[in-house]
Amino acid sequence: SSTVAPFPEGFLWGGATAANQIEGAYAEGGKGLSIQDVMPKGLMTPRTEGPTDDNLKQVAIDFYHRYAEDIALFAEMGFKTFRFSIAWSRIFPLGDEAEPNEEGLAFYDRVLDELEKHGIEPLVTISHYETPLHLAERYDGWVNRDLIGFYERYVRTLFSRYGHRVTYWLTFNEINSVLHAPFMSGGINTPKDQLSQSDLYQAVHHELVASALATKIARELAPSAQIGCMVLAMPTYPLTPDPDDVMAALTTDRSNLAFGDIHVRGEYPGYYLRHLREAGVELTITDEDRALLKEHTVDFVSFSYYVSICETTDPTKRVTGEGNIFPGVKNPTLQASEWGWQIDPVGLRYVLNTFWDRWQKPLFIVENGLGAKDQLVEVDGQKTVVDDYRIAYLNDHLVQVGEAIADGVDVMGFTPWGCIDLVSASTAQLSKRYGFIYVDRDDDGTGTLERYRKKSFGWYRDVIASRGATL
Ligand code: BG6
Repeated sequence: SSTVAPFPEGFLWGGATAANQIEGAYAEGGKGLSIQDVMPKGLMTPRTEGPTDDNLKQVAIDFYHRYAEDIALFAEMGFKTFRFSIAWSRIFPLGDEAEPNEEGLAFYDRVLDELEKHGIEPLVTISHYETPLHLAERYDGWVNRDLIGFYERYVRTLFSRYGHRVTYWLTFNEINSVLHAPFMSGGINTPKDQLSQSDLYQAVHHELVASALATKIARELAPSAQIGCMVLAMPTYPLTPDPDDVMAALTTDRSNLAFGDIHVRGEYPGYYLRHLREAGVELTITDEDRALLKEHTVDFVSFSYYVSICETTDPTKRVTGEGNIFPGVKNPTLQASEWGWQIDPVGLRYVLNTFWDRWQKPLFIVENGLGAKDQLVEVDGQKTVVDDYRIAYLNDHLVQVGEAIADGVDVMGFTPWGCIDLVSASTAQLSKRYGFIYVDRDDDGTGTLERYRKKSFGWYRDVIASRGATL
């Protein structure tokens, strides 16, 4: 049993997903194409010309038709919240039209009805790696300032329609990942090796302004809404105590921390401006942009956490290790998942403490978990997965969340990634499973799409019910 004190009353226990990774129905209900429809292999290969049949996301796990059954399973685990994203191209199929697609809006009304029925708080990501494809092809995505206006129209539509029933909103999933995956994260069609630093950082600026604008609009249209930024947290440790390594680790860390700094403090930090100067980047920033950033900072900071990395200036010591979206220097003290992601529960306590010390904003862990190959077996006549490895991973991480809470950090909630199996973002596999619920579908697209409770399903239900006492 646990040494951790009970998690706070009102702690938002739940799970997290994204539209393109669960919904399927990629061409139903008036939905337009998104960038995901030309990424059949995720980040593993360049985009395709158009949609191809080998794209598992075309059907994904068919949440579009099975949401009621899935939400009932979440309720059975005792979820207090469910994180999902709205597919931008369901609401604005091309992205630049004047009027939204009513059928797309109605779908999310039904999802929200179902959540309400079970008393589950929605946690909505406005943009999660699914920019309408037309915006990528016609405008080069966020490189173009016009995207701010299209995003504004989209968020106005969302806040007017759902603002009275959704409290928690995230403006951009893992906003810092655009520096590494410009097409997936920023809808930037120019191939990464041809993209200039100026265009890339200008795209970042446009997203940051759009995020601030969303906060401003929420204050008008949905006054009870809480707006969060969402960053990919991957803490960087110095590989050795050599002061040069310590400084190098800080520099790498700041390339990620800058995004939280700007969302929370409303201005560009000095180290970031120096980086731009030295890269020869001159941003176009209007006075209005500056005012927007300064006046409309976020209510809370949310983040994903899977791995930590190291940094060193010594090329002979540099061994590359896998990270989430982008790699780092491998930590010799840690074990890794089957996909090479190094497992570091203490890193989560470290992130929570450093973010809290830095920003003093409530923190929400909106992704964490272990991608692993599962085997469906029969136990007492029931099909299930005996996923003790997943239970161990999540248990160890939650113990560290408990430690951070004891340290005085304000933690709003915990929504582990892929609470139901879904299609991976980086590799587009279904066999990289994160869920408490197994979905019968394989990498070749075969399977019944039936859902089965894994062993971790009962484990998580007990953790929630006991507020962490069973950890
Ligand atoms: C995050 C993304 O990068 O990590 C998710 O926000 C993604 O969309 C998750 O699925 C896990 O990564 P992967 O590559 O294992 O799916």
